[in-house]
Amino acid sequence: MYLKKFLSILTSCLLPMGSIIAQEDHTYIYLCSTQDGTSGLMVATSDDGDPTGKWTTKGLEHRLTSSDYGAWGAGKKMYNPVVYLNSDSTWTLVFDTYSDSSVKAISSSKDLINWSVQEYRNPSEIQSLIASDAVAGEKARIDYKGKKASGTIFKVPTSLVEKLKARQRYNLQRDANNNARVTEDSWRFKGYDTLHISIIPEKDKAHKISDKFIGIFFEDINYSADGGLYAELVQNRDFEYNTNERKKSPGWNATTAWQLSDSAAIKASIETEEPIHPNNPHYLKLTTNAGKQSLINTGFDGIVTEKGDKYNVSLFARSSGKGKVKIALLDPNGRTIGHTTFSWKDANRWNKINGVITATASCDSATLSITPLQHGTIDLDMISLMPQNTFNGRANGLRKDLAQVLADLHPRFVRFPGGCVAHGDGIDNMYDWKGSIGNLEERVGKRNIWGYHQSRGLGYHEYFEFCEDIGAEPLPVLAAGVPCQNSSTPSRHSHDHLTSDGQQCGIPMEQMGAYVQDILDLIEYANGDTTTTWGAKRAQAGHPEPFNLKMIGIGNEDLITDAFKERFLMINNAIKERYPKIEVVGTVGPFYEGPDYETGWKFAKEHNLDAVDEHYYVNPGWYIHNRGFYDNYDRQGTKVYLGEYASHLPDRASTLEAALSIALYLTDVERSGDVVTMTSYAPLLAKKDHTQWKPDLIYFDNTSITLTPDYYVQKMYGTNPGTTYIPSVMQTSTASDDVNNRLGQSIVIDEETGDTILRLVNMTPVVVETAFPYCGTDVEVTSLAGSPLSTEVAEVKTVQDINKSYRQAPYSFTVLRFKNLK
Ligand code: AHR
Repeated sequence: MYLKKFLSILTSCLLPMGSIIAQEDHTYIYLCSTQDGTSGLMVATSDDGDPTGKWTTKGLEHRLTSSDYGAWGAGKKMYNPVVYLNSDSTWTLVFDTYSDSSVKAISSSKDLINWSVQEYRNPSEIQSLIASDAVAGEKARIDYKGKKASGTIFKVPTSLVEKLKARQRYNLQRDANNNARVTEDSWRFKGYDTLHISIIPEKDKAHKISDKFIGIFFEDINYSADGGLYAELVQNRDFEYNTNERKKSPGWNATTAWQLSDSAAIKASIETEEPIHPNNPHYLKLTTNAGKQSLINTGFDGIVTEKGDKYNVSLFARSSGKGKVKIALLDPNGRTIGHTTFSWKDANRWNKINGVITATASCDSATLSITPLQHGTIDLDMISLMPQNTFNGRANGLRKDLAQVLADLHPRFVRFPGGCVAHGDGIDNMYDWKGSIGNLEERVGKRNIWGYHQSRGLGYHEYFEFCEDIGAEPLPVLAAGVPCQNSSTPSRHSHDHLTSDGQQCGIPMEQMGAYVQDILDLIEYANGDTTTTWGAKRAQAGHPEPFNLKMIGIGNEDLITDAFKERFLMINNAIKERYPKIEVVGTVGPFYEGPDYETGWKFAKEHNLDAVDEHYYVNPGWYIHNRGFYDNYDRQGTKVYLGEYASHLPDRASTLEAALSIALYLTDVERSGDVVTMTSYAPLLAKKDHTQWKPDLIYFDNTSITLTPDYYVQKMYGTNPGTTYIPSVMQTSTASDDVNNRLGQSIVIDEETGDTILRLVNMTPVVVETAFPYCGTDVEVTSLAGSPLSTEVAEVKTVQDINKSYRQAPYSFTVLRFKNLK
């Protein structure tokens, strides 16, 4: 009765809004979310026109919008949504992001389908953002599909419900397309035999495309840096691991990866008095009776040694008198497989000691032991073991085999350091580049957003050097003054307008000047001559020549809120003023559509940004059904960097199916290589058993590397780059979209060599006889083919004479490289 009474008041209130609320032909909708906060904004309709009767969700199963606030996934909640109807017929949604209503979100929509970027405010501030003449729906708590829900009821024309249903039907079809799998191919392609296609190049329509099409994105996720690409073999060398980095792992602290050979005979404590450097506040104090007891580091799942290889070993030591330690590599049986002895004379001060150990045996799981050879106490820090055999022989180097497989991709650029690592879990966790350069003992270790510790021994300097070593351009990405959109850490700072958790606030305005200067300083570090402050630091680090930085990314998948926009522009404008030639890459949120994508693009165009970074992790079916995604992008103005993408199967496996969907889609992206100037698959590296995110391009452990089919796809593009694109028409023997959506081709010319490159993708289970007007001798043919469900498919290279045709194997990607086109 109570509800009925209010509804009749509501209905009469809404009557003046003739354009929306027609007396005839109307029904009621219930816009709600479940009271546990998990559902997002759902809609139910009262088909019988009686809001006190039965509600149905038939045809309306998709959520209208969801909360963007809070930590990843389950952290994002929507409580107590209240929808308002404004006098201009638009809708406003206000909801609580916590059950205690301390932070409210607001968003608007013209049609209940497309919603604006959410803004977050204190409850007192939110009221001022709601139009004064907006009318709230009637608040109601009605079960939604058997779950307690809360929301608002509106009387609306039935045509609105029809539009919502039509949208949901579209969503269903889209989902079906996106979920298409090769496992359905036996019925999808039933009765199909060999297909015949002709590829007709249209040389007169040739256009230039980017020379940086394929790059890599290195982020310290999945133990990609410490324990991965960074060649350091001692884990937690500086005793800076911290319980806050990994609250759920009890053993995670300053002594992680360290053991005592005999804890009764040797005492150890973590101390902070007079450390080597304030940035490295912890060290280990040992009290020993000299001789046989040792401190042992177990490395990252063990230390790998190669017989005959040399390892640089170094440490800082302090003792009350002269000191002496033995450093040894031990095999799992405790046998010494290489050692050296260090001694120092200076008492009561830190002594840096370096030496070399030659391994006398190969071992997968050695440890490093430090045995004090005198009585008394000894302070130890920065205990390092670095192979001399690093990539390009760099002293503070990269693991050779891993760096090599990255180099083999021939990436034209390297993005670094994130991803989420760049903008961090809350403001205090942003990647401050200055803390990642200089002497190793002065670097600032950091909690990694992915749940571990970053020593940042592989920091900005090593990154620039790596780019130089592999002939790739650096693309550093820095936070746009706002932290990760999924931050979980409450911020101590508060934004000018709001007091909220990490993600939606920004660096306080009074600190933004210094932050902008930090970014300018990075450019100076990379490019400034040695008379500049930061250029001199680069020279001090052993690299007087500039690194020739040409581009810089600002922001990563950020919510395009007012807080973001304000800060982004400050940074962008400062860069453009000081370094007009540096290209700035912005961001348009984490998806290929939605409020951040829409608003991000609008913002980019308004401010004529050089480029923006798009991200999407979607199913193979999405790639198959969105082949023309870039065809209608504006060819003038802001360019696209497809900075993170991958094909995600339900089990996140790295199969040929996933890889072929990317190979296929890249033929289309390459067609738009005038707009999409750079691409990078993500993530790049993952250490087995230490993986937070799948799929990845390359898996590894301490001794082996597994290259995925996706790796080979990237390599087949990267090693066969083109700078001119030749459009072509594909004539097929069938009109079936199922077939044609799964066949791809692209033709490019590599102006540097004059070679013509033809890429062919066949994502069907049948052979495709392919005709084209090219013939050549000694054509390099690289192909990736096999069972689409296999994770173990590798490229095969042959040299063949090709005469105007090629037989594409089922489920294959082929690159034909014509050196002598006839
Ligand atoms: O690539 C893994 C993560 O995905 C990146 O850190 C982030 O930008 C995205 O959400």
